[in-house]
Amino acid sequence: MALGPCKWISTITFAFLLVMFTVTLWSLESNQVQYPFAGDLTKMILGKLEGWSLSKHGVITEEGKRGAKSVGPNMTSCHPSYGRKDLLVDCCPPGFQLPLPFVDFQFPDPQSPLRIHRPAHAVDVDYIAKYDKALSIMKSLPHHDPRSFSRQANLHCLFCTGAYDQQNSNAPLSIHRTWLFFPWHRMMIYFHERILGSLIGDETFALPYWAWDIPQGMIK
Ligand SMILES: *[C@@H]1O[C@H](CO)[C@@H](O)[C@H](O)[C@H]1NC(C)=O
Repeated sequence: MALGPCKWISTITFAFLLVMFTVTLWSLESNQVQYPFAGDLTKMILGKLEGWSLSKHGVITEEGKRGAKSVGPNMTSCHPSYGRKDLLVDCCPPGFQLPLPFVDFQFPDPQSPLRIHRPAHAVDVDYIAKYDKALSIMKSLPHHDPRSFSRQANLHCLFCTGAYDQQNSNAPLSIHRTWLFFPWHRMMIYFHERILGSLIGDETFALPYWAWDIPQGMIK
């Protein structure tokens, strides 16, 4: 199987992480530290690697179906999905049967003003008022506006409850518990932040973050 340069870099990174992970488990074991889920974790990681290496160009091959966990969503396959075991929800966007083409990501102009993220414990009343205003405007937008609060909540619902099927497959796509978890949520927050800023005409608006690793940020 021929691999492109990006896949080679990913392969090397994966291999490195896997070796480090194994070494960590081995050293924990040899130091008699209890680590009851080590076996499950190793199996899960190996399972992901198998699925990844067997799926080519986002298309699941027959042999790849066993292990492959996530490829692209089939945007015309939206259907009600289970938010919880006992809760069927319908988060499909209006007109999903005829989706618009994907738009490639454009990097922002490097000359545009910087957004400075502040730790949540250090924001002031002016900042809270600004955030509050942006959220109120977002919540007042009609449902057909994709920038509205409900549509953004639905976006998360769609991808976390398996409302879309994967392409060329009827297996649901879920971004949770897969390698898409971090990039997908980063993408969602990236655009959420920009929409909030644009609603109050502030190109520097930045969401606060939780500084969980310093005493001032720790929740008592
Ligand atoms: C996407 O879903 C639609 C509707 O279920 C189906 O007809 C179509 O074949 C699917 N396309 C792919 C590429 O999986």
